[in-house]
Parts: sequence; C-alpha cells; structure tokens
Amino acid sequence: MAKLFAVKPLNLLQQEAGEEGEHTLKRSLGPVNLITLGVGAIIGAGIFVLTGQAAALHAGPAIALSFIFAGITCAFAGLCYAEFASIIPIAGSAYTYGYATLGELVAWIIGWDLVLEYAFGAATVASGWSGYLLSLLGQLGFTASPSLARFTTTYGNVVYFYKGGWMPAASLPPGITTAGLPHVTGIFNVIAFLAILAITTILVVGIKESANLNSAIVIVKLGVVAIFLFLGIGFLMQHHSIAAANWHPFIPPRTNGAFGWKGIVEGASSVFFAYIGFDAVSTAAQEAKNPQRDMPIGILGSLVFCTLLYIIVSLVLTGLVDYRQLNVAQPVAMGIDATGVKWGSLLVKIGAVFGLGTVMLVMLLGQSRVFFSMSRDGLLPKWASDIHPKFRTPWISNIVVGTIVAFLPALLPIDKLSELVNMGTLLAFAIVSAGVWILRRRQPDLERPFKTPFVPVVPILGILSAFYLMVNLPLLTWIVVLVWLAIGLAIYFGYSTKHSRVQHLPASETSGKV
Ligand code: ALA
Repeated sequence: MAKLFAVKPLNLLQQEAGEEGEHTLKRSLGPVNLITLGVGAIIGAGIFVLTGQAAALHAGPAIALSFIFAGITCAFAGLCYAEFASIIPIAGSAYTYGYATLGELVAWIIGWDLVLEYAFGAATVASGWSGYLLSLLGQLGFTASPSLARFTTTYGNVVYFYKGGWMPAASLPPGITTAGLPHVTGIFNVIAFLAILAITTILVVGIKESANLNSAIVIVKLGVVAIFLFLGIGFLMQHHSIAAANWHPFIPPRTNGAFGWKGIVEGASSVFFAYIGFDAVSTAAQEAKNPQRDMPIGILGSLVFCTLLYIIVSLVLTGLVDYRQLNVAQPVAMGIDATGVKWGSLLVKIGAVFGLGTVMLVMLLGQSRVFFSMSRDGLLPKWASDIHPKFRTPWISNIVVGTIVAFLPALLPIDKLSELVNMGTLLAFAIVSAGVWILRRRQPDLERPFKTPFVPVVPILGILSAFYLMVNLPLLTWIVVLVWLAIGLAIYFGYSTKHSRVQHLPASETSGKV
C-alpha cells in the first residue's frame, strides 16, 4: 500500500542540493536584486499581447481594473509562497515545498500541474513572440507571410491586410469589410515551433543563468515600456478628445456574453497570465541575504511594480486605440503606431522579441528542473534525469519536452493556451495557500523565517480569489485541465508509487516532521 502522504526528509533534500552543486549557499541577493528578478520573469506576452485581446474580447478600457483584481490574487498567493520558500532552505519549486511538507501525492499533483504553468506557459509566450517577430521583420522590409506565424488569436486562421498590418476580421474598424482585402490562411505556426526548438537547443547545450544578463533584459523590457508610455501619454495629452472617445464608456455594457462587470473578472482571469513568474522570486530564498525581510519585499515589490505598470499601460493603450481593434498579435506596437511615431513601434517590437525570448527560456528551464526533480525522486522514469556527459544538462528530458511543447503554439491559439496556463497556475496557488494553512496547524512550532501574515485569512483569501478566477475561465479549459490531472493520477498510481524513492525509506523518516 503506497504511503500517499509520505514526506521527503529535509536531510535528503539538502544532500541532493549539495550533490547537484547547482546552488551555492552564498547569500548575495538584496531586495532590489529580488525585485529585478521578479520583474524579469514577469513581464512578457501577458502585457505585450494578451492585454489587447482581453480588452477587445472581455473588458474594454476597464481591463485596467482586471489587472488590479488579478494583482491582488497574486499578492495573497505570493505571501504564502514566501513562507514555504523560507521553511525549505533549498532552492526549489512548489513541487519541492509540497514534497517536504504535505506529502507525495500533493507534491505529484503540484508537479504535474506545474507542467501547465511552465511548459504551456513557454508555448503561450512563443505564440506571442512569433507575432512580434513577424511584425518586426515586416517593418524591416522582409516580407514574410503571416501564415508562417499562424495568427495568434482565437479568431484564428484567416487574417486580412489593412493599413499596413495583418488582423482578423473582427479587428477591422467599424464599416470596413473583408471584401477585396488581401488575406492569408495559416495552419501551422512555424516561427513559434522553431522558437521553442531553438530555446530547447540552448537548454541542452547548457546556459549559465546570469544575473547580469537578466538585469540587461529587464532594462530593455522596461525601456520599451517607458518609450510606449512616453509617446502614448504625450500624444493623449495633446489629443484629449481621442482618449475621451476611446475610454467612453469605460465599462462597456454587457453584450453577447462579454464586457460589463463580469467582463472585468473574465478579463482578470485572462490577463492573470501577465503576472505569472513572480514565484521565481520565492525560488531564490536560499540566495537572499535576509530572507525574512527581503522575500516579501521581492515578491510584493515586483507584484506592486508590475501591477502599477500594467494599469498605466492598459489605460494608455485603450486611450490610443479603440479597444475593439486591439485583438491583434502586437497591440502595444499598434498603440505606438496610433501616435504616428514610426520608430517607436520598431523599438517596441525589438524589445518584445528580446524580452519574450528570455521569458520562454526561464519557463522551459523551470519545466526541466521540475521534471528533473520528479525523476530523481523516482516519480518519473529515469531518463528524465539523465545528464548529458559533456553538457551536464538533463538533455533527454529537455528534448522530449521541447519537441512536444513546440507543437502547442504551432497548432493552438494564444488565448486558449494562456487560459490553460492560468487554470494550472491558479490551481497551484490554491494548493500552496492551503498548504501554508495546513502546515501551520500540523506543525505550529516549525521554524519559519518568514511568516505569512494573518493566517488563516490570507490563505483563505488566496484560495477563494484563485477559485473565483478559475470559475470565470471557459468550461473547455476546466475539462482539459481535469483530463490532464486524471492522466497525471493514472501515471502516479500506475508508475510513480512503485518507483518512488521516498516510499522505500523507513516510515520514521517520512512521517512529516521537517
Ligand atoms: N508573465 C509572463 C508573461 O506575461 C509569463 O509572459
């Protein structure tokens, strides 16, 4: 009989961390580094692509309110992540925290669920990246057919050429019909497919995560957002009437199952993707100089910063362009085009191509680490943790995952992918929030360098807000995620329980005392 709640002993975790030589215990990161780390992992396809689509399809200009709602949800979960990160002094993910505290079954569910966050997240960003790359190439004079980056929205396969850009029929300005407009049909997003394969190759060959490179990319990302805001706000200050017209009504009335107050929550469920990545801060607990003080600063600081940035960007964007037209592959660049400054959109596209590239890398790396850990624990087959003799990377796992992931953005639209990612991540948030509360009751005396404030209120609010956003995701997403979890449980009971290392340890070591 499998011990479903066996926990992984802390000394085993510490021993493995030492063996892998992956993490030094040097405590070198201060609060500013931690906030930068978070911002680097957070800003990506969410703000550069999904904001426009969510405004066009769900919330209108009130998408700014959706960002506030999604940001608050993340803050509750972030505080819970910080407590876990401080209890387990090993760099790891929610999977590791779960295994050391809540037991194997919960750890498996989190690990399997994290595939939705990391692997599908990388696929989502690849889809957004392809749209920006194609548009950048076009602006530089290389005409590439948009069929190469099968259009990245729900409206899918057919895009029309209007005023220098490709867009779905629904995004054409009122009064313009598709009749006579050049159009193309895409079936397979070749660019996103190749992007994932390229990143996979980088991971197989091995990369050194570099704080300096991360800082440079953060500066590039923030730089292009600053240019957007500078040009956009400058334009709107001179053309009040345009902003007034585009922002009116700020909350469009509910029609055809979209907009209204409900549309704001649906928009929040959709743009929640833009915040994913702040949990990266919690994985650096071991390298923080003063985790007790700096973990919450890093997590909440990067969240507050991004929330403010997202609110302002979405307000400026919906002020510049009628929200109905924003369901395009590169809405931020479209916003700058509305100011008439052509070089602005060129810079935005260059920044997005670099910025989104690193988000893909971080996500696939996270995926590889989770599978590596699960395989080392015996929950996945051994090949998933086989290390390449020369490159010292889990190459087979990287290649298998990368090849499968590459087909996702090639065949599925970005919003469907992001909804799956959001559902998976929200579920992980809910489990982590519940976990903090359960552990407080089960082991009140455990040393916690950082304590989530107001337990159980914060964990309960974390669970409720995550579920509220999940409820507002489409039924199809629920079905896919439930099928995904069912497949996961079948693998767990069919394979993992028989091969688990922890199951073979003496019961006294796995009873739950950390
Ligand atoms: N938050 C990340 C993005 O928006 C995942 O791309």
